[in-house]
Order: sequence, then C-alpha cells, then structure tokens
Amino acid sequence: MSQVGILISGRGSNMVALLDAMDRGEIPARCSLVISNKADAPGLALAAARGVPTLVIDHKASATREEHDAKVVTALREAGVEIVCLAGYMRLLSPVFVRAFKNRILNIHPALLPAFPGLHVQRKALDAGARFSGCTVHLVDEEVDHGPILLQAVVPIFPDDDEESLSRRILGLEHHLYAAALRLMCEGRVTVDGSRAVLDVPHKEYQRLSGGLIWSGDSQ
Ligand code: GRF
Repeated sequence: MSQVGILISGRGSNMVALLDAMDRGEIPARCSLVISNKADAPGLALAAARGVPTLVIDHKASATREEHDAKVVTALREAGVEIVCLAGYMRLLSPVFVRAFKNRILNIHPALLPAFPGLHVQRKALDAGARFSGCTVHLVDEEVDHGPILLQAVVPIFPDDDEESLSRRILGLEHHLYAAALRLMCEGRVTVDGSRAVLDVPHKEYQRLSGGLIWSGDSQ
C-alpha cells in the first residue's frame, strides 16, 4: 500500500474521486493527509467527513514560496507520504518541493499538454479554435504544468461551447483519468526516461486505458 498525500485549494472533486477509488480498492494506496493552502477550501470538509486527516498550511503565513513549501514537505514526510497528488492546488511549486518528491508528484491539468498550460485554459482552447481538448495527468517538474505525461483523455469542443460547458465536459473525464494514473503509479508501473514517462502496461490494457477515456456523451 502506497501512502498518498493530496494537496488542494478549493472544491476538491478530483480529491474525492481519488479517495473513492482508493476506498473501492481500485488503487493500492491510502490517503494519509490532505493539505490545503486555504482554510475555506470546500474540499477540506469533504476529506474530514470521511476520516482523512486534514491540515491547513496558509501560504500567507510564509514570507517566501520556499518557506511555505518547506512546511508542506515536512508535513507530508511526517505523515509518511510517498506520492503527492496535486488536485486543484493553485500554487506553483518551488524546486525545494519538486526535488523533495522527485518524480513522485502528480498533477492533473484540464487541457492536452503541452498545449495550453497555465490558467484559463478552456478560454485559451476556445479562443484558439481547437476542435478537441481534454485533460492530462503528468509528473511535476520544475516548470509550470510540465513534466512527463502519464495519461491523457480527449473531449470534443463544440461550436456552442463556453468555458463552463467545456470545463464540465473535461471534469467528467478528469476523475477517471486521475484515478487510473494514480493506480499505475502505486503499482510501480511508471518509470521516467528523460522527459518521457514509460508505462509498464500490456498493449491491450493500454488500449483499454486510453480508449476508455475518450468522451462519449454529455451524460458522463
Ligand atoms: C480541475 O479542473 C483540475 O484539472 C485543475 O483544477 C481543477 C480542480 O478542480 N488543476 P477540483 O478542485 O478537483 O474540483
């Protein structure tokens, strides 16, 4: 069983999806700690209600990004965390943090990286006239929304989409994608070769993983 820590700043729907998948036994892991940099993050109560330890580490209490990250790293280590999942954690990580958990930090981003990193990515995809977008789970390196890609899922963009409808369509797949990627990590089936992640997944399973994560209707 791997010990996972989840970092949030808000709603926490991806966090809930990961906790649900762990509870169902789909991921060989338990969540030892949820940390939020915001005391009013709605996700905190959702984690606490199911008995997951939670902690608020307010970034405003630290003078620098490094000082804040050092507190977070200490808390994660004290909780025995081996793998860190960023789930709507609205903070850039300093090298201090990235190096402390090298190749063991996952992030989910609501676009098909390397297209559209940063914020307001649905707006960027719409403005670019892209026909497809989606989501990406990747290992975190020292650049923003960057690092070896683990899994991606694809959704179409329709002519009448706005940011809200596109976000909703992508979020429906995010929850499945993140759980699938964390499972691969916890099963030790991810290695890093330079800038690429190599998945130790048989061809059939790979087809099922990627084929199963293509949008198939707004009812999802
Ligand atoms: C998700 O769209 C995720 O891709 C992005 O931030 C959002 C977080 O949503 N990084 P939630 O807090 O998991 O509901």
